[in-house]
Amino acid sequence: MSELAADGGTPVWTKGWPAWPVADDREVAAVTRVVREGDWWKYSLGQAVQDFDGEPPSDWGEVARFQREFALLHDCRYGVACTSGTTALQIGLRALGVGPGDEVIVPPYTFIATASAPALLGATPVFVDIEPETCNLDPRRIEEAVTPRTKAVVPVHLGGQPADMDAINQVAKKRGLAVLEDAAQAHGAGYKGRKAGSLGDAAIFSFQVSKNISGGEGGIITTNDRSVAEMCDSLVWVGRRIGDAWYSHHYLAGNARMTEFQGAILNAQLTRLEEHMARRTANARLLDELLGQVEGIEPLLPHPNTTAHSYHLYLFRYHAEAFGGCPKERFIELMQAEGIPLMAGYHLPLYRQSALAPLVPDPDAVAARCPVSERACRELIWIFQSVLLAEPEAMTAIAEAIQKVQRALL
Ligand SMILES: Cc1ncc(COP(=O)(O)O)c(C=O)c1O
Repeated sequence: MSELAADGGTPVWTKGWPAWPVADDREVAAVTRVVREGDWWKYSLGQAVQDFDGEPPSDWGEVARFQREFALLHDCRYGVACTSGTTALQIGLRALGVGPGDEVIVPPYTFIATASAPALLGATPVFVDIEPETCNLDPRRIEEAVTPRTKAVVPVHLGGQPADMDAINQVAKKRGLAVLEDAAQAHGAGYKGRKAGSLGDAAIFSFQVSKNISGGEGGIITTNDRSVAEMCDSLVWVGRRIGDAWYSHHYLAGNARMTEFQGAILNAQLTRLEEHMARRTANARLLDELLGQVEGIEPLLPHPNTTAHSYHLYLFRYHAEAFGGCPKERFIELMQAEGIPLMAGYHLPLYRQSALAPLVPDPDAVAARCPVSERACRELIWIFQSVLLAEPEAMTAIAEAIQKVQRALL
């Protein structure tokens, strides 16, 4: 019988992990203010696209202030808040001109929304493989997937590490494609000193509850292109246009408005973004060092282009051969018993999702072009962002637990 916690031994870590989401009196005060102040809980149509320097007018509501603050933090002039990252992807793509019959290039190792957003607009997601170092869209593989129908490319900043945007923009420019960053996991991330969210024609972020800052739900489209921002604002507001009659609708669009309550929470959450990023980054450095020494564990190290990593996820490859052939899922169970919350992540590349089957008639043929994505699904293990908010000694425990499990398996 081994000493493993799964076999009744003592777990390596019993002190628990930081709770998520984090909220304190700041959130309570912000929401209370909105409830008490009333005023139709503010309507912000058009405020996302007002151009001015300095402080916003004092009568602006929470959503309007959040849109502006979040956009500026991400090197953008405009931010249009909405109900979710998924909705933001659909609105952003539509504002960039994607519609029925178009093709949109996306990576396969990501959340379904990256590919379902174009599909829900009547376009076809076309899968292009990822690079092994970052598991982000491989710019060298884009051009071979471009056809006369290709309209846009959606690079994902996986786990909070920016994709190689200069190389992606270069191909996009050459082939006349729009670029929408899926920065759902990349709040505060930086690429060559520039902020994620400002690196393409437009970008989206998610504020769903797991994200590094969260309004419970929510999303935003950021851009420096005023016409794109105006279109997004209209698509969030049932096709209304600022300056026109309230019941004039120019585009067929849903209601995707963020509430003032979410805006209030998000304004409070923003006050912790920098401090949390610093803590996650310091712990990630420690994990890079500790896990890098374990045979069979290969952290996805920050790329030299990554000037800020949001560490929504800390990612490492698990090589089963170094663990007596123990399957990834079983290894994760053994680690969980030791008190370490690891996650298996995306188990399927998106071209194998049944929801997308009507658009991917031959997934095996796509798989043959996407070996790195296939491998990522088999090998990658995730450490969730809130784990990186723990004390440094907890990072040491993660490494100790891996070594303990490895010893028992060999
Ligand atoms: C890469 C990626 N894109 C899009 C989304 C969609 O965001 P939401 O959950 O807010 O709809 C998510 C969030 O889960 C995501 O991780």
